[in-house]
Amino acid sequence: MIGIKPLTPEHFATVAEWLSKPEINQWLTGEWRDRVIDPTLIGVAVRNKRNRFFLVRSDGVPCGLVALADWDVVDKIAMIWYALGDPASGGRGVITQAIRELVRTAFDTLGIEALHAWIMEDNERSRRVLEKNGFREAGRLRLAAVHNSRRLDRVYLDLTRHDPGVGFADASGGIVAVTS
Ligand SMILES: CC(C)(COP(=O)(O)OP(=O)(O)OC[C@H]1O[C@@H](n2cnc3c(N)ncnc32)[C@H](O)[C@@H]1OP(=O)(O)O)[C@@H](O)C(=O)NCCC(=O)NCCS
Repeated sequence: MIGIKPLTPEHFATVAEWLSKPEINQWLTGEWRDRVIDPTLIGVAVRNKRNRFFLVRSDGVPCGLVALADWDVVDKIAMIWYALGDPASGGRGVITQAIRELVRTAFDTLGIEALHAWIMEDNERSRRVLEKNGFREAGRLRLAAVHNSRRLDRVYLDLTRHDPGVGFADASGGIVAVTS
């Protein structure tokens, strides 16, 4: 059972530990990439009104983070990003399900109209997570990120609450709900 709840201070250290792992932060925006993250930095980010951090639990055990950033309350848009605490034990649909919950929260509770994410062009796992939640490629910024000392494209994917036939996939990739 996968659930998401707003991130609270008792878990800042755990999340900081996850985001300090090179296998995770190498894929993130420059603000988090290739550095050790102090829990106080998580606190600062959580207090920023443009962010919303959610702890992911699997059967009650904290295992990942899903988040909104760059929330613009006027245009009602936000960016999403995410990380599994131990990516080596991934592939079980945990973050796919967590993003499904986050998308629901964003559209149904927070009044967001459109979500976007960006991935490094070689982040196939992340692309799958987004595509299984109905996100589609919206465009790319050429050579706009650095991964392993190599410059490559940022690929943007987006999803709006009005997309016809947007499907939410379960862990096995099957469509479990359709909005119109
Ligand atoms: C990306 C990440 C969040 C995925 O978490 P996860 O819980 O393993 O994701 P899921 O199991 O829901 O889905 C992963 C998908 O990628 C697939 N996958 C795994 N390794 C892959 C690879 N090397 N190449 C292509 N696809 C791969 C899985 O098979 C699965 O797809 P499927 O259900 O169609 O089989 C996790 O790997 C992570 O934390 N990575 C580092 C941080 C990161 O990249 N964050 C996103 C920044 S935009």
